[in-house]
Amino acid sequence: MKFLVTGGAGFIGGNFVHYMVNKYPEDMIVNLDKLTYAGNLETCKPVEDKPNYKFVKGDIADREFIFDLFEKEHFDVVVNFAAESHVDRSIEDPEIFVKTNVMGTTTLLDACVKYGIKRYHQVSTDEVYGDLPLDRPDLFFTEETPLHTSSPYSSAKASADLFVLAYHRTYGLPVTISRCSNNYGPYHFPEKLIPLIISRALNDETIPVYGTGENVRDWLHVYDHCTAIDLIVRNGREGEVYNVGGHNERTNLQVVKTVLKALNKPESLITFVEDRKGHDRRYAIDPTKLETELGWQPKYTFDTGIPMTIQWYLDNKEWWENIISGEYQNYFEKMYVEKGRAEK
Ligand code: NAD
Ligand code: DAU
Repeated sequence: MKFLVTGGAGFIGGNFVHYMVNKYPEDMIVNLDKLTYAGNLETCKPVEDKPNYKFVKGDIADREFIFDLFEKEHFDVVVNFAAESHVDRSIEDPEIFVKTNVMGTTTLLDACVKYGIKRYHQVSTDEVYGDLPLDRPDLFFTEETPLHTSSPYSSAKASADLFVLAYHRTYGLPVTISRCSNNYGPYHFPEKLIPLIISRALNDETIPVYGTGENVRDWLHVYDHCTAIDLIVRNGREGEVYNVGGHNERTNLQVVKTVLKALNKPESLITFVEDRKGHDRRYAIDPTKLETELGWQPKYTFDTGIPMTIQWYLDNKEWWENIISGEYQNYFEKMYVEKGRAEK
């Protein structure tokens, strides 16, 4: 089978490309990525010489380019990871989130209808469900939880989900959607919480914790997200949504303290800073449908996945040091230094 994987130079898409290229040598994986600030060809290095892998630079929202690509390549399956993915950036500048996350998705969907793609998979997020209260640990997001978004990012992702489901109902496109909780693992861009803590702590820099640090996220190792998508793409029922998560809820403060302890760094690095606007309180996934219908089980817990991830960042300093020494500095200046969240 020939797969188009979009956003494969980013964090999760990159891990998925590695997983697929190595697990299925008989399948062809075409990685399409615009190489925005978040895309990094260094992430693709481990597979770039494999015969079943090819990289194409391009924008999923560029209609002419996408239709030309589909005309030439005859894809069987499309897995769409490409997106603007950072909530804080969406609060500063929502427009590109609409362009890439919504219009990019509809462009791909149109091409899939025209070229009779056998399966379109949309990589979505638990953030489309909004948040849960902190004092109701009995509540979880199921696939039936209403969409109730908080940020421009999650609103754009929810809009895309609605288009995906509409293309199934209206045009009969064979689609599936996965909605996963927070991922962590190798190749995670250091603007996101866990790699931000690791990279800053290793440099003895302050760790900015938004608000009180009591917000809860449900952490899943990226490898387990990849196995879930693989199962859904191959065996999931058309038109269905599958939640992905492994019941690893932690407050942000617990996450920060765990990483600092593992790195043997002092908690005095923690600095409480102005809260994120509209900050979601708690995410928690109920993955029962994926487990019972498709037999998915995560391989890692937070306690086994975090030390491995820290070790990866220690072993691959060049990968993240190249990022934080480049254009990322302008982002950090604007989002942290100018807002009084951290010193230079
Ligand atoms: P990321 O920001 O690390 O990577 C996104 C990739 O998409 C980058 O390589 C970027 O260059 C590429 N891209 C952006 N705009 C593009 C465009 N217009 N055309 C082609 N490529 C483009 O993101 P990530 O964290 O790997 O997330 C991947 C997907 O998974 C996203 O759709 C996100 O919503 C979803 N998701 C992420 C998480 C998480 O915890 N990170 C959890 C659930 C779902
Ligand atoms: O739940 C899935 C989502 O997880 C994905 O859809 C998003 O693409 C992904 O970025 C992630 O969103 P979050 O906003 O949860 O992740 P982030 O790493 O930005 O923040 C995690 C928590 O940590 C959140 O409560 C905000 C807080 N935080 C974050 C940063 C960057 C801090 O306290 N300080 C920080 O400097």
